Amino acid sequence: MRDRCHPRLRTLLVAMCEYWWVIDACEIRLAKPRDAARIAQMSRDYVEAGLRWGWTPARVAHSIRDCATNVVIAEAGADLVGFGIMKYRDDDAHLLLFAVRPEYRRRGIGSGLLRWLESTVITAGIELIFLETRAANSAARAFYAARGYRELVVLPHYYGSEDAVRIGRDLTIKAER
Ligand SMILES: CC(C)(COP(=O)(O)OP(=O)(O)OC[C@H]1O[C@@H](n2cnc3c(N)ncnc32)[C@H](O)[C@@H]1OP(=O)(O)O)[C@@H](O)C(=O)NCCC(=O)NCCS
Repeated sequence: MRDRCHPRLRTLLVAMCEYWWVIDACEIRLAKPRDAARIAQMSRDYVEAGLRWGWTPARVAHSIRDCATNVVIAEAGADLVGFGIMKYRDDDAHLLLFAVRPEYRRRGIGSGLLRWLESTVITAGIELIFLETRAANSAARAFYAARGYRELVVLPHYYGSEDAVRIGRDLTIKAER
């Protein structure tokens, strides 16, 4: 195999194995109250860095108990690698919080979590999803654009001195991938 396999093909095979290992190794499930502290810490470190810590363990635990909200997590073994919090309203759903641990990014985990949440929105008979992200968060903006979301409006000073972008997706329109 080593002699016959083109180096680029070998690199691609290794990358594919790694990708499938991560996806296979991840379990996506609804959060339980005991997960609240770990989710809140991820929010503090990866979503709210530099801002006042709004998503405390108590607030996350309240969302886990709230019947109009889903808190979903991705785990690899005992490690929390990603999560999302989606609130369902009459006519739309609001993605309140979403993150993947840095060492697990660009392996499809964010897409997997978002697909999971989108399917619950469709099941609830809702067609629109909205969210806000920091205008300076180019990674998140690229991620949502790649998943068929559109940037709708800039919200000046939404996060204190920082602007936000409101992003949305009409789920009746198919994403390219
Ligand atoms: C945004 C975030 C959730 C993406 O999670 P992820 O697991 O890396 O996403 P995926 O691997 O499913 O990425 C899917 C596609 O999105 C785009 N994308 C994701 N991260 C990107 C980046 N840093 N730069 C450019 N494009 C990016 C790419 O098109 C990617 O496909 P590719 O890897 O085949 O090129 C993650 O970067 C994160 O947690 N960021 C910090 C917290 C945050 O910004 N949360 C969202 C704000 S509400």
